[in-house]
Amino acid sequence: MRDQNTSHFSSLATPGDSEESRRVSQKFFGFWNTLIVLVTTFGSFTIPFSLVHQDPNTIFYYREAILTLLFGLDIVFSRNRLKANHSVQLFEITILRSYYKRWLFLDIIAAIPFALFFPFPILEYLRFFKLVKVVYLAFILARTHIHLSNTLLVAQVLYWTMLLAHWCSCGWLYIRGMAGNVTTSDYIEALYWTVATLTSVGYGDIVPATDTERIYTVVTMILGYSLMGYLIGAVAGILSKKNPTWEKYQQNLEQLTNATRHAQLPLDLQQRIHAYFLYKMERGFGYDESSFIKELPQGLRAEVSLHFRQEIIEEVPLFKDAPDEFILEVAQHLAEHIIPAGDYIFKVGDPGDKMYFISRGEVSVYNDTLKTPIAALKAGDYFGEISLFNDIPRTATAKAHTYCHLYSLDKDLFKNIFDRFPNVQAKIFNKAEIRRKKG
Ligand code: CMP
Repeated sequence: MRDQNTSHFSSLATPGDSEESRRVSQKFFGFWNTLIVLVTTFGSFTIPFSLVHQDPNTIFYYREAILTLLFGLDIVFSRNRLKANHSVQLFEITILRSYYKRWLFLDIIAAIPFALFFPFPILEYLRFFKLVKVVYLAFILARTHIHLSNTLLVAQVLYWTMLLAHWCSCGWLYIRGMAGNVTTSDYIEALYWTVATLTSVGYGDIVPATDTERIYTVVTMILGYSLMGYLIGAVAGILSKKNPTWEKYQQNLEQLTNATRHAQLPLDLQQRIHAYFLYKMERGFGYDESSFIKELPQGLRAEVSLHFRQEIIEEVPLFKDAPDEFILEVAQHLAEHIIPAGDYIFKVGDPGDKMYFISRGEVSVYNDTLKTPIAALKAGDYFGEISLFNDIPRTATAKAHTYCHLYSLDKDLFKNIFDRFPNVQAKIFNKAEIRRKKG
């Protein structure tokens, strides 16, 4: 992204926050969050397992000490981030606030090294409080849902399923009185029983023998039903996530088929229309962002528009030295057009209603004769400004030489915006005068 845009974004950020320090703090917290997810995962697999498998003392103490230290630091960091509002995105603050209201108490308990300070047999179960950190993890993941791609969603579903199956297996081994001397093959057998029970397959080769085991089996079956509900919901969610560009393409094709049936369009015309839809789809142009942008408040709308129009803003030399405010205004009002090769954009004498910027492709400009072009305009060039400046009809014809991706600015907006930025206006005006004399 060009310098001006970055400087513009920093001007939209909370005052007093340098771009550099924000980036560094975001990087650090990105790393920290990943670390917390990893150690929580480690804890949530090993702590329940320690119920049935006696860890050597050193591992037990090191694990407890490391988890306590990291979870403790996590509370301190989260608290600091909340206080230093400026260093976090509003989105994160909202998450952290609601988290603090609800989970801080449990998080503090999770950070207490019970297992180290209370060596009494009954109190050793208090180490399971560390697992509440997983609840926090679930909470954060549920709220950051919008960022997840399909692959990550599948990974998340697998993660929870594996964790639940592991917990149930450890519980099963414990209930069967196998704690202390569990072998790998015992664990595999327990996992096999768990998956068979959770998925309600129940082969019946491993059956509960005591009342406690039967009750545990019932609870696992009920959990299995809930898990199924979650899995089906998650998979349905993933499948229903649509690709708007592909959908738009399908819709267009359907309409083309209907139109062909209705009006018997010639084959060549059908093929050109199909090529146009295909071109749009392949370059991701099916998505109409305008209704989404309309939902946003003014400040966000300006920033989002800038991102959507980033490509053309970087390409057009005119925008390079223009003030940030000018670019923001223009970005919000640019409309997108795809013009197939050989199509006229306008003809000489037409009323001038728009100015165009070329993002991709080549536009040929012709005078009345339409024989040899007087100019070949490429990506980064603009045209259609002369008639707008002078309130006269188009002075030349513009034709797409190749498939063109253009952006246009309406006449009224053109006048309104350029009147407020006389330096940019003067630049365009001078070039327009040269073109006019040449033309
Ligand atoms: P307008 O008159 O609105 O519509 C035709 C456009 O062609 C015109 O604005 C210019 O932008 C462009 N144009 C005209 N003459 C030339 C030229 N000699 N070189 C490049 N562009 C031109």
